Amino acid sequence: MSKTRPRVVLVGAGGYGRLYVEALTSQDMGAELTAICDIDPNLAERVPQIRQRQIPVYPTLDAFFAKDSADLAVLVSPVHFHTDMVLSCLEHGVNVLCEKPLCLTVKEAAAMQEASKKTGKFLCIGYQLNYRRDVQALKRDILLGRFGKAKHIAVYHGFRRGAAYYARNNWAGRITCQGREVFDSPFTNACAHHFQMLTFLLGPTMRTACDIESVQAELYRANPTIENYDIAALRFQTAQGLPLLYYTAHPIRTEFWGPVGVLEFENATITYTREKPVFRGVMADGSAFDYSDVDPGADMQKLMDAIQAVDSGDPPLCGVEADLPHIHAVRLVQQNPITPVRSELVQPVHTDTDDFYCVKNLEQMLVHCAENRALPSELGIQLG
Ligand SMILES: NC(=O)c1ccc[n+]([C@@H]2O[C@H](COP(=O)([O-])OP(=O)(O)OC[C@H]3O[C@@H](n4cnc5c(N)ncnc54)[C@H](O)[C@@H]3O)[C@@H](O)[C@H]2O)c1
Repeated sequence: MSKTRPRVVLVGAGGYGRLYVEALTSQDMGAELTAICDIDPNLAERVPQIRQRQIPVYPTLDAFFAKDSADLAVLVSPVHFHTDMVLSCLEHGVNVLCEKPLCLTVKEAAAMQEASKKTGKFLCIGYQLNYRRDVQALKRDILLGRFGKAKHIAVYHGFRRGAAYYARNNWAGRITCQGREVFDSPFTNACAHHFQMLTFLLGPTMRTACDIESVQAELYRANPTIENYDIAALRFQTAQGLPLLYYTAHPIRTEFWGPVGVLEFENATITYTREKPVFRGVMADGSAFDYSDVDPGADMQKLMDAIQAVDSGDPPLCGVEADLPHIHAVRLVQQNPITPVRSELVQPVHTDTDDFYCVKNLEQMLVHCAENRALPSELGIQLG
């Protein structure tokens, strides 16, 4: 007898959610996209697969649950709706893959963890780097003690973001939206991935990330149209006393900046970049290694793993525990003052496709900081 395929409901399909629609309709992922929830009444104009496949669209999750259900909910809605939506899905007996960041308070994350335990349905988070098999292989080696204790970590990563990005919704670049915290920033959202991956790599078990104790933060805003910061230079201390430096920014000249990471251990130094092989290491005895023999997996490995978990009951590795340190860190960082960048350093740039602000020599300044393990003001760099 043939088994029924998992039924997927996608919540929020007009932004990043379009990639999920594409993945679920252009190839066989072993599941059916049977419904979409989205408040946009014109969604079908932007997502052609809705008409082609005659996928029913509900304006709210309540409207969906009044008529139907699913085996897996994929939540790609704005961050400030995640908690309510996750809880609703779990309470309706539906497993959840929720996009990152899961939420903005440790308390809400704990409530979701509890609901998952109570209902027996899994909750996993859409940090795609955690699902990469080379990242998981590296983590296994770290846990096996192959490199000794971690001593120092420094990473920089930025995406250029301009008017199109900030105008795409009512929460981009905002600290609050309609009375709810959103804390939207490169560190909270677009460039959260590499920081979260570091905490995941350094976590004490395969499912957990390392706890963050404190942060020294320098936050700047170059784009005068946004509320929150768009440049962050951050020195974290983990609960084990490990310094973890993270630099991220949106007002940069190039479309992508990094990621470049240097992870120093007692017995090895591991670097990573966008180039292949992504992770390269040198042991203290000079021998080199990398993870090029490990297939990282599919682009939408997170979705494949979540679909498989519906049948296996074995939740993917990236659960709430893997997101908690980032959630905590976002709040610690957000408590710091935001300094406007001096206007003579900020250049408005117009291109055929977008308008954006860029800060003169920002990338070079922050690389200089990363190389010197410093925050800008410690090197006499005055952005504000
Ligand atoms: N993993 C990644 O690489 C990645 C990349 C981009 C975005 N994201 C995450 O995806 C999520 C969504 O981001 P986005 O940029 O697509 O946001 P967006 O605001 O641009 O789009 C969200 C979609 O949700 C819909 N929506 C809004 N409120 C809703 C509600 N109450 N109920 C149902 N639908 C609603 C909107 O109409 C829209 O279609 C965020 O958590 C974001 O961080 C992840």
